[in-house]
Amino acid sequence: MGEFYQSTKNITNALSSSLIHDDEQPTSKTKSPTSSSPLSPQSSQYRYINGRQFHNLVDSVYPLPNDYQELDRISMQHFLYKAIWDGNFKAPIHRKLMAGDCKVLDVGCGPGPWVMEMAMTYPLSNFTGIDISPIQPRDIKPRNSKFYEMNILNDLPFKDGAFDFCHQRSMALCFTRAQYAEKVIPNLLRVTKQGGILEIMEVDLMFTNPGPLLKTMMSSYQDFLEKREIDLFPGIRIKEYLEKSEQLKDISQEIIDIPMGSDHGKLAELMAENYATASKAQIPLFAPFLKMSNEELENIIDQIYKVEVNEYNTSVRAYRYYGTKI
Ligand SMILES: C[S@@+](CC[C@H](N)C(=O)[O-])C[C@H]1O[C@@H](n2cnc3c(N)ncnc32)[C@H](O)[C@@H]1O
Repeated sequence: MGEFYQSTKNITNALSSSLIHDDEQPTSKTKSPTSSSPLSPQSSQYRYINGRQFHNLVDSVYPLPNDYQELDRISMQHFLYKAIWDGNFKAPIHRKLMAGDCKVLDVGCGPGPWVMEMAMTYPLSNFTGIDISPIQPRDIKPRNSKFYEMNILNDLPFKDGAFDFCHQRSMALCFTRAQYAEKVIPNLLRVTKQGGILEIMEVDLMFTNPGPLLKTMMSSYQDFLEKREIDLFPGIRIKEYLEKSEQLKDISQEIIDIPMGSDHGKLAELMAENYATASKAQIPLFAPFLKMSNEELENIIDQIYKVEVNEYNTSVRAYRYYGTKI
């Protein structure tokens, strides 16, 4: 079992005084992640390739697994993003969160590290995490947090303007270009309250200063993603979507180039490690696409993230946007 899951047990006692609010409950019957979990798989819900467990949903292009190995990677990535951005969000919402009764939605919450941390930091506000996979915390979670199994590509069962703050992070691989523009952004905007804030963070799927191995790999990965109609540079596109919606004012953009590799400090070393883990998690789908053996691809990934990223000063560009709903 992942370390993150074990450590969550320690926080339960500290949370007993938190409040429960129910006014941002979904309007129709929705699954809370109680009926199944990655530990109790129901075969039709998942598919298994080379020992990794993937979701089994036809309308989703998401190529990463949803097993414990992946949940640990997402949890580690949460702490890396928090350190890189010097916090869990950039929007000017701290005071409102402190004052209480601020309703917050996190879309694609994964195993819930962002929601859990935010709920503990702001015990008077209320946090809802949704994810397409039943990988969210079930029993051990702050009292002011809720989790539901939901697909952002469907109509969300929340009322218009149900949330004061909607947050979505690192979902570039989850949607086709058209899904992002035509489903995700409108759904997020609909459930954001007038005067509320929408914040999105995305990382480009292509690197800056790639070495020769990474360049070759990126070219094939580009073909792999384009077959799925996934945007390679979602960061810059989100700005267009938000501006075009004409439903947000005061849109702010922040950009960070994240360095990779042990030569650039601990954070960059862990970032490269996390990318290597994410790349390996896609081997069951990507190796057959490349007509390569799993071992061969694994060796190339190690070479790229342990050696080459250092030699070529490789980095990746991350974007953060937030704006106020008109
Ligand atoms: C790369 S992880 C990011 C997790 C989290 N947002 C974070 O930054 O820590 C992407 C997450 O999105 C979820 N996901 C993929 N497609 C989704 C969809 N259509 N609706 C809701 N969640 C989705 C995946 O199950 C996965 O947990």
